[in-house]
Amino acid sequence: MRMYDVIEKKRDGGELTNEEIDFFVNGYVSGDVTDYQAAALCMAIFYKGMNARETARLTMDMAHSGDMMDLSGIKGIKVDKHSTGGVGDKTTLVLAPIVASLGVPVAKMSGRGLGHTGGTLDKLESIPGLSIDIDLNRFFEIVNTVGCAVVGQTGNLVPADKKLYALRDVTATVDSIPLIASSIMSKKIAAGADKILLDVKCGSGAFMKTPEDAIRLAQAMVEIGEEVGRTTVALITDMGRPLGNAIGNALEVMEACDTLKGVAPEDLTETCIELAANMLFLAGKASLEECRDLARGQIDNGEAFVKLHEMVEAQGGDSRALDDYSLFAQPKVSREVRATESGWVFTMDTERTGIASVALGAGRATKEDAIDPAAGIMLAAKTGAYLKKGDLMATLYAADEARLDEGERILREAYELREEEPAPIPHFFARVSRDGVDRLA
Ligand code: URA
Repeated sequence: MRMYDVIEKKRDGGELTNEEIDFFVNGYVSGDVTDYQAAALCMAIFYKGMNARETARLTMDMAHSGDMMDLSGIKGIKVDKHSTGGVGDKTTLVLAPIVASLGVPVAKMSGRGLGHTGGTLDKLESIPGLSIDIDLNRFFEIVNTVGCAVVGQTGNLVPADKKLYALRDVTATVDSIPLIASSIMSKKIAAGADKILLDVKCGSGAFMKTPEDAIRLAQAMVEIGEEVGRTTVALITDMGRPLGNAIGNALEVMEACDTLKGVAPEDLTETCIELAANMLFLAGKASLEECRDLARGQIDNGEAFVKLHEMVEAQGGDSRALDDYSLFAQPKVSREVRATESGWVFTMDTERTGIASVALGAGRATKEDAIDPAAGIMLAAKTGAYLKKGDLMATLYAADEARLDEGERILREAYELREEEPAPIPHFFARVSRDGVDRLA
């Protein structure tokens, strides 16, 4: 078989056989297929797509390209959650303790931020002393005793995705439904959970800009999960504006704590409750409606916040920081950004908001960059707010004035003010499962 013929077939709109897909994935991991051939095939897939069988085969080949986790050492039904990536998305830090405090184990391997999106590992590492580098035995022990742990990837999980994702990132082939679906689902399947909840983000800060595209991506992933015997549900949630008000690592941990204390912005709290309820439902706790009440109850009675303390301590962190935010690294400089005209915030370019936080030091321009845990943005106004000239839009935090200048310049570009009030934005657009698509907005 020749890679040339595989690329040509897909370029001309053909359907790849299982053998051809195996040849590509195995060859790419072993080095027999070159980066330029893999890039050409990704671009052909970007334009011509893949059917359900091709996408499922690609997913399973990628999942089996490295270690497959066996979570049988952890008691109970393991439900994993995965977000397709967004700005201000700190939901894992809220969900894991809510769900674990109700007896459902959460054994989560998370990732770092790249591009304009943040990553849970970077957020967690802003907690003084906390380690995300935990070996497998200790990881299982923490989950079995505390109920939840969030760690970096252990072992050699899905090397095919590592190579392919880095390649797609620099060849403009990330936002393709079969490529995203296979990338995410291969990692979830290899990570070993029994059930999978997907948070598919939709809007200006997400890969999928419209609910229709997000639903198509969700359907592709649900179909793959069900085909390999892992019940999979997807919620389509809003990323047309950042989630909550905090963007940046320590700032987001503090806002996650506020959520567990019951004093967080409404959009963040509602999104966390809905996601937690779906995880509990997948674990067979109760009906979805009852699970919403259960999740809310764990915030109200403080048990979820206690669980976060326990998890942080088990991972070596100083849990006093969760109550005393002065124990987090502090920013060197800050600046208030104020409106230069009056008007409704009509839209936000959420991706630019994320880019502004990266410019402030909260993210990486390249994988090697160090991040500043204290850098970021506290938004005071999002889409739907009315601003009078001089009103506070956001406060920026960084290590120096030059970063503040750049962050302010980019953040201002993210706001579109108009005299007209925008329509309210729903938090949830749809729920996709094997039973079909439930439109929620
Ligand atoms: N997240 C992933 O893990 N993979 C993609 O392709 C896109 C988002």
